[in-house]
Amino acid sequence: MRAYRAALLRFDDEGRPVYDPDGLLVVGPSPGASGAPGPRSATTTSGVRVVRAAGAWSDLKDRFPGVVVEHLPGRLIAPGFIDLHVHYPQTDVIGSPAEGLLPWLENYTFPHESRFSDAAYAGQVATFFLGELQRHGVTTALTFATSHPGSVDALLGLAQARGLRLIAGKVLQDRHSPDGVRDETEQSLIDTEALIQRWHGQGRLGYAITPRFAPSCSDAQMQGAGELAARYPEVWIQSHVAENRDEIRWVRELYPDARSYLAIYEKFGLLRERAIYAHCIHFDDADRALMQATGAAAAVSPTSNLFLGSGFFDYAAADRQGMRYGLASDVGGGTSFSPFHTMLAAYYVGREGHTKAGLSLAPSHLWWQHTAGAAQALGLSGVVGNLQPGCEADFVVLNPQATPLLARRSAQAGNLEELLFSLIVLGDDRAVQAVHLASGAGLDPAT
Ligand code: GUN
Ligand code: ZN
Repeated sequence: MRAYRAALLRFDDEGRPVYDPDGLLVVGPSPGASGAPGPRSATTTSGVRVVRAAGAWSDLKDRFPGVVVEHLPGRLIAPGFIDLHVHYPQTDVIGSPAEGLLPWLENYTFPHESRFSDAAYAGQVATFFLGELQRHGVTTALTFATSHPGSVDALLGLAQARGLRLIAGKVLQDRHSPDGVRDETEQSLIDTEALIQRWHGQGRLGYAITPRFAPSCSDAQMQGAGELAARYPEVWIQSHVAENRDEIRWVRELYPDARSYLAIYEKFGLLRERAIYAHCIHFDDADRALMQATGAAAAVSPTSNLFLGSGFFDYAAADRQGMRYGLASDVGGGTSFSPFHTMLAAYYVGREGHTKAGLSLAPSHLWWQHTAGAAQALGLSGVVGNLQPGCEADFVVLNPQATPLLARRSAQAGNLEELLFSLIVLGDDRAVQAVHLASGAGLDPAT
């Protein structure tokens, strides 16, 4: 066991922040761990360290005699961030300007993704990508690969070696896609099932069935994806929906009888718990009710939506209708791996809002969306995204003195919300002093 003394942030079951200005986090093997391999499920991982206790240092200091305490004065310990939607093969697509989503896909993204037929290239990008996640304090991610099965093997093999919690899937796209990324219907489903069996539940890894979006998947491919989703209920689903007005017009031409874009996924059995849909911008109340009723969740991707001019996620309506959501970078439509940049963009999106006055989202709520809220969206509450006892011990050590302006501003923070907001507005990877993974691997980005 090992303990860390610093300011400590976690969340209660209602998503409210729990804060100990002088806290103690005690981590160690799971109390029930026998060393025997656990069940082959992505939800319970055997052999990882968990939080054994969390709270005020003064309350806990005498409960763990003999345990080494690392004292980190002036630092904030917080849950590792969760990126709910990211494309690892688009690491080198960041910052590609386009009129909107569809020309961006055609001119930059598809040509670039075709390079991932080369496993060595995929491995090289995956290595860089995982390093970026970790450097920025992201310890769990739900990521697209490309349509090439080897792109999944490259990423998940490397993630396993690092001990990161990664969920990934081979992209399904058998139509309206150029040579080089278009797959073949029957083979794509055979490949998907083989990848599920190879990777899902291996250590901290998970698999996500990944239809790119309705326009790029034939009915037969969507049907096959839905059948796999029913056969493997623990496996995740990830896709895109209602992102951009031109995209939605196209979907309406392709499916004139569908009630809405989202309803197409429902028809094919692709809305359920553990289904994560990026964007969910141009929704009506019936769409949000469908998300709520099925347990599907939105990956809010504000830097991407601002960059591609897609629109603004409606936080007020999502909350009113009880739709689940969490935050995502959506690199490479998104512009940054930094959770701080994503949280700030989400704040801007709330301000613009759909309500008359706009919203001023609380800093702790922005933070929750990128940690415990994102875990809830994934069906991993109590596993990751939090530091309550029993959670896997993925955490970051943040340094509010990392830059002169951040140091000056955070020193004047009078309460938790002000401290978190100083980090959200002024922070970046320089504020991430250390990243600890439940698998035992630690990273000090400074070394
Ligand atoms: N819709 C279909 N594919 C993509 C993609 O790669 N990025 C984004 N932002 N939207 C998509
Ligand atoms: Zn995306």
